[in-house]
Amino acid sequence: MQQETETETSMAPYHVRRYQDHDWEPVRELFSKGMLGNIPSEFWTSLKKPRTFLVLLGVPFALFLGSGSLILCLLSLFGLLACQWLTLRRFVKQYVENSLNTDLLDIQKSYVGFWVAECKHQVVGIVGAHPPLRPVGGGNYLELLHLSVKRNYRGKGLARTLVQTLLHFAQDQGCDGVVLETSNSNHPARRLYESLGFQKAHESGYHLNWWLGYFSTWHYKCDFSSQK
Ligand SMILES: CC(C)(COP(=O)(O)OP(=O)(O)OC[C@H]1O[C@@H](n2cnc3c(N)ncnc32)[C@H](O)[C@@H]1OP(=O)(O)O)[C@@H](O)C(=O)NCCC(=O)NCCS
Repeated sequence: MQQETETETSMAPYHVRRYQDHDWEPVRELFSKGMLGNIPSEFWTSLKKPRTFLVLLGVPFALFLGSGSLILCLLSLFGLLACQWLTLRRFVKQYVENSLNTDLLDIQKSYVGFWVAECKHQVVGIVGAHPPLRPVGGGNYLELLHLSVKRNYRGKGLARTLVQTLLHFAQDQGCDGVVLETSNSNHPARRLYESLGFQKAHESGYHLNWWLGYFSTWHYKCDFSSQK
């Protein structure tokens, strides 16, 4: 099935179409760049966690009290910040590598539906639908994965069109709804999903280290029955 959406915005027109084999390289690149580009916001969010904040202040301060050296104090602060950045980056990179080496290796085979937004013959947005990675309970659901929009095409409604395309597909397939997981600090994505009828179902986390704690994610569900 080919679902076409032609949309005119202040930029050149774009359209949403089904993934084709020649999109493989740009899709993988857009996914990687989208995920890696979220590291700075994840980093700033992690600084606000109480335990992390305490370690970042407490360790340099304790070293200063013990040694009287301002240089040691500053070095330890920069060391901790660097360690924090590298830990987050390694976590995100592992997720990216894992996806590139599993579901994004053979996209046609792994996904029941995968769409790209194309503008001037360039892939500028992507989204995929997959059977849920974890059981959702009763019902027939699809999982939304790998929504990403090229940086200079953001804020123009591409992601909204991509997610709506996927939701219409799931409805046409007779599904009960769509689920997804996103970082709790990904406010643009969360606002988008919530505005399209997704509701938070539960939270989970991936352990990073003792002072950074967990990388928290929110699991969202869009139930078609509750929208009727
Ligand atoms: C999240 C992402 C896909 C949004 O793409 P986009 O094309 O810019 O989104 P849209 O223009 O369709 O915006 C739709 C809605 O999303 C929300 N949104 C988008 N960007 C936002 C921002 N910077 N801040 C707050 N809300 C934002 C708004 O609710 C917006 O609706 P509105 O314009 O009516 O206010 C894009 O930022 C991205 O590719 N990020 C990197 C990859 C990623 O994090 N993917 C999500 C993984 S689950």
